[in-house]
Amino acid sequence: NYPSHANIVEVGPRDGLQNEASLLHIADKVNLINALSQAGLQHIESGSFVSPKWVPQMANSDQVFANITRKAGVIYSALTPNLKGYEGASAANADTVAVFASASSSFSMKNINCDIPTSIERFTAVIEQAKKDNRPVRGYVSCVLGCPYEGDVSPQAVLDVTKALLDLGCYEVSLGDTIGVGTALKTKKLTDLLISQISINKLALHCHDTYGQALTNVLIGLQQGINTFDSSVGGLGGCPYAAGASGNLASEDLVYMLNNMGIETGVDLQKMVHIGQEISDVLGRKNQSKTGIALYNK
Ligand code: HMG
Ligand code: MG
Repeated sequence: NYPSHANIVEVGPRDGLQNEASLLHIADKVNLINALSQAGLQHIESGSFVSPKWVPQMANSDQVFANITRKAGVIYSALTPNLKGYEGASAANADTVAVFASASSSFSMKNINCDIPTSIERFTAVIEQAKKDNRPVRGYVSCVLGCPYEGDVSPQAVLDVTKALLDLGCYEVSLGDTIGVGTALKTKKLTDLLISQISINKLALHCHDTYGQALTNVLIGLQQGINTFDSSVGGLGGCPYAAGASGNLASEDLVYMLNNMGIETGVDLQKMVHIGQEISDVLGRKNQSKTGIALYNK
């Protein structure tokens, strides 16, 4: 029993670009985001308000937000690790923000320079302010299927952090397979535990495709009843604090699969194929989407 509709959160302009060696011009980022909205994406993670010393690629997120052409109904979101980041995102008028925790303590330290309980304290302050501003907050949990520093991560640890974020008021938690080590049975086991205690419409899947398992894990997610998935046009991406993490699941590959399952997304696949090739060319990198490569010259 598959859903008739799935939501795609396009994370290319954030997760995709945060790890690129070359700094992309503001105009190129703005063109990318505008093209994505024209292709029918309804939620575009457009930047991060994090320390420019830690992630220089996202330093111009305020200017990106100031220059995009906002399409009615589209959610333009941003990552906010702390209150300072929230203030930046709020000034930029981000529609929603996202806090990002980890199920692994070592990854939390490397990524946001604090342990998990401290991160939850910081997110509490962000979410309190966001509530006052009527701004929805999404949560991420990283390393849900493995950690680059600790290896295996227990489903119970994922459940604890996910619950903490939902209890604070996140409208949804996106489960991050940060380094793409998840496989079908692991994904099934994790989601079995989560959905025994959490309502399914509060969960999303965020798969990186390091080992080519992302679509398989999405299929498991769909079978479990999840219907929100994060992906990145052209398969851009990787996390600067997760060595070996390759790009996100490519949006084109995701849309191709969903289209052929009769699951509607509102996304124009052919437009996405062109955007994926164009941004790959701008970055001077190979297109990481198999569907993109197959359909580009058709
Ligand atoms: P810190 O050094 O512990 O922060 O970093 P601090 O509070 O001690 O402040 C140090 C300096 O940073 C100060 O500036 C602050 O003003 C500044 P200084 O006085 O030295 O000039 N600062 C900030 N500047 C701009 N925006 C801010 C901000 N906060 C402090 N928000 C911090 C802590 C969290 C800031 C840092 O560790 C950081 O920015 N980390 C980057 C994390 C990141 O962006 N990671 C990638 C995204 S997460 C991801 O990719 C995973 C995901 O895709 C899901 C998955 O795949 O698993 C979401
Ligand atoms: Mg990610």
